[in-house]
Amino acid sequence: MESSLPITVAAINRSTQLKAFDETKTGVKGLVDAGIAEIPSIFRAPPATLTSPKPPSSSEFTIPTIDLKGGGTRRSLVEKIGDAAEKWGFFQVINHGIPMDVLEKKKEGIREFHEQDTQVKKGFYSRDPASKVVYSSNFDLFSSPAANWRDTLGCYTAPDPPRPEDLPAACGEMMIEYSKEVMKLGKLLFELLSEALGLNTSHLKDMDCTNSLLLLGHYYPPCPQPDLTLGLTKHFDNSFLTILLQDHIGGLQVLHDQYWVDVPPVPGALVVNVGDLLQFKSVEHRVLANVAGPRISVACFFSSYLMANPRVYGPIKDILSEQNPPKYRDTTITEYAKFYRSKGFDGTSGLLYLKI
Ligand code: OGA
Ligand code: NI
Repeated sequence: MESSLPITVAAINRSTQLKAFDETKTGVKGLVDAGIAEIPSIFRAPPATLTSPKPPSSSEFTIPTIDLKGGGTRRSLVEKIGDAAEKWGFFQVINHGIPMDVLEKKKEGIREFHEQDTQVKKGFYSRDPASKVVYSSNFDLFSSPAANWRDTLGCYTAPDPPRPEDLPAACGEMMIEYSKEVMKLGKLLFELLSEALGLNTSHLKDMDCTNSLLLLGHYYPPCPQPDLTLGLTKHFDNSFLTILLQDHIGGLQVLHDQYWVDVPPVPGALVVNVGDLLQFKSVEHRVLANVAGPRISVACFFSSYLMANPRVYGPIKDILSEQNPPKYRDTTITEYAKFYRSKGFDGTSGLLYLKI
């Protein structure tokens, strides 16, 4: 069994490095601040995950942008949203009602949190899923094949918003204000999506799709070797719906017809994507590492994810038919989330085991 020895040594070495990195409690930003010129091996992505066949440049490969106050009829808006959710699972919205200065302040707050005094930041570093407010680097650090060039501040803002005194001073107030705005927009989107499915306007809301909101403030530091790692490995979201605010740096890509299609930054726009739990079409997406950053993004997930939730979810009975049979078996979000979290971003879908 001599030949297996080097592999074992490499595995031990990797595990030691992961632990050492985690114990710094300063994330990827800490490595960049220390002036590293080469990325540590734990961040090296398998080369196959870094390839990106470019799409033939045509309007067929442009993700849709939808004007929520475009002046057309409700019916035409419902059709546009339904079409984008079904064909792409991803679209941008403009005139969404969230004021520009709220978006700017939100991004600025997340940047301030990540760039503040290290000692204060360390106080929030945790991997305890029960913590209300968590700052960490790579939620799946110890289970994924490669770590990502990204740090994250996360917090559930609904149904029970944290107490202001538990939130970081740099961005706490903004977290609460921003999530209220996102909740309003989310309610509208779930209404439009319900109508697009031919259901009652409140159908998805009545299924508790808007009960809980998880907010993640991502910070993607500039990377000295952006061709060797990723900001965020390809994945499906563990939500019904995600509303994402990205800054001007770019790097977010969506897998569409085998091509990685850029989601270009549009000032004032928000990116909306369907998650595993809604399955209009849940789409894989990833973020490239950047040299020009930091890149800041704020992802808000409508899902109860890590919270106890006994409700059983399955195919919506009203729209099943012989031509449209169920594709997945019933599950609870708790069951699904446990599986999603334990496997980390390993390139596979969290829904495979639910397929009928
Ligand atoms: C996510 C995500 C994209 C981004 O947090 O699930 O896909 O641009 N984020 O940060
Ligand atoms: Ni995502």
